[in-house]
Amino acid sequence: MTTEQQTLSRLDWVIRNTRLLTAIGDEFEATRPFAGLRIATGIHLEPKTASLLLTLRRGGATVTATGNLNSTQTETTDFLAANGVTIVGHQTRDAEVHRGFIRELVAGRPDLILDNGGELFDAYLDAPYPGLLGGTEETTSGRMRLMPVRGRLTVPIYVINDSPIKQFAENLHAVGQSVFESFMRITNLSTNGKRVTVFGYGACGQGVAANFRSANALVTVVENDPVRRLQALLDGFIVTDRAEAISSADAIVTVTGAPSILTVDDLPLFRDGVVLGNAGHFPWEISPEIETAAEVTGAEAFESGLSALHLGDGRIVNLINHGHMLNLSGPRPLGNSIESMDIGFALQARSLEHIATGGGLRTDTLVPVPRSIDASVANAFVALRTSAAPVEGTAAALTTPVA
Ligand SMILES: NC(=O)c1ccc[n+]([C@@H]2O[C@H](COP(=O)([O-])OP(=O)(O)OC[C@H]3O[C@@H](n4cnc5c(N)ncnc54)[C@H](O)[C@@H]3O)[C@@H](O)[C@H]2O)c1
Repeated sequence: MTTEQQTLSRLDWVIRNTRLLTAIGDEFEATRPFAGLRIATGIHLEPKTASLLLTLRRGGATVTATGNLNSTQTETTDFLAANGVTIVGHQTRDAEVHRGFIRELVAGRPDLILDNGGELFDAYLDAPYPGLLGGTEETTSGRMRLMPVRGRLTVPIYVINDSPIKQFAENLHAVGQSVFESFMRITNLSTNGKRVTVFGYGACGQGVAANFRSANALVTVVENDPVRRLQALLDGFIVTDRAEAISSADAIVTVTGAPSILTVDDLPLFRDGVVLGNAGHFPWEISPEIETAAEVTGAEAFESGLSALHLGDGRIVNLINHGHMLNLSGPRPLGNSIESMDIGFALQARSLEHIATGGGLRTDTLVPVPRSIDASVANAFVALRTSAAPVEGTAAALTTPVA
């Protein structure tokens, strides 16, 4: 039988496959944990986060959102706006313009903050107001940024990244896959027999190194922490000094969370044709000064998001998307797998529910997700994978706008 096929978008595909969030949204429609509450978020606005924000809306929240620097997808913001989420700002690579959007969000005095990189809580400290219940921080980078000001943030803030589930479901398994997928999609260069250097051997770096190795690259790891350096060695990676790791590399990926991992001082070391990419949260891991260094005599921008920097001695250094996260760069960026984000965002939804309903303590500032939430998300995902039954509401989630 031939049937007419309805054309659906990537948003439909993503929302249909964020099955944990769909199930949580179904529950939230009955329990309404966020009724009367305003949630503000500054997070990558792409289809998977759209599914999370709709889940919070289904729990009764008024949601205001802006994107992170340079990763906002217009199709997603249009979709969210049509579904009752207030969008502040637009796609920008200008850090000052972006900070303005963040300040505008916080000026709306949200009851809960869903942060990604510590930007909203940082802005809150510039103009604190009574009534903030607390919130969540998604990333390691955000935790590192907020830790020094922890004493002034006297509200519960759960760090999603510090959940063991997030560490292995997203950082270890998904970031490596998507960084590798993006490297292939953006460069279309082979990895076989090539030398790839990975800076940082945390959960993300471990996944990145493993994925390039499984694509027949010879992978070197550079890691500051002696224990993780030993781990990389025992995992079978080349562990050598920094200069050798840079000068031997055909491709270098930074994924540390720390600034200035590759700098102008490294320009003499790069091989001709090297490809540099950053997978850490902030683009600063590859110093922006590299692009304007005196050694750079010319530059070209390819439509795939690559810049070719021509050095005076004839070498070319290629940089992916000016150091912005490479797995959210290039044509048709997909980011991490849908299921990995579904798990991480289920932790987000449950954490915000916990704080909204009074479960967090004032002393729980920048602590990991409570163990009970980890357990409930883990149980729910295993149950989904082992059950053949469709998740209630999945197909309807997109076609029915959230009230
Ligand atoms: N691209 C993505 O989709 C994605 C997803 C999750 C997290 N992240 C980001 O990736 C980064 C790493 O996350 P993680 O969870 O692996 O962090 P992590 O803290 O577990 O690991 C980072 C590692 O980098 C090492 N390091 C720090 N400075 C270094 C230096 N100068 N040279 C070599 N090694 C150095 C640290 O010792 C540490 O072992 C963070 O910025 C995080 O926000 C990106």
